[in-house]
Amino acid sequence: MTDTARHPSGRTIELCSTADVAAGTAIKVERAGLELAVFNVDGEFYVTDDHCTHGPGSLSEGFIDGDIVECNFHQGQFNIRTGEVVLPPCFVPVKTYPASVRDGKVIIEV
Ligand code: FES
Repeated sequence: MTDTARHPSGRTIELCSTADVAAGTAIKVERAGLELAVFNVDGEFYVTDDHCTHGPGSLSEGFIDGDIVECNFHQGQFNIRTGEVVLPPCFVPVKTYPASVRDGKVIIEV
């Protein structure tokens, strides 16, 4: 997949097809120097940095329960929608990106 046209407010990046991410799952996408986790929470798409803020965990490989993702390394938890920490040992929120769907593709503005 390729980056799409620039948006006046920033750069629009196409991440994947909505069909690539089943409900209750996540995939890792690398675009524009970013390593991102794309989540499908009950048909709504959310995007965070893939790297856990606590260490080497990959959030796209974590355990997802509703809108919570549990890191696969030390079992810290984040809210997928907001990036806020839900359960230590992580204490720094994970970065989130405003995501939307256009023509069946998940996109973010950066
Ligand atoms: S690396 Fe994610 S909780 Fe430690």
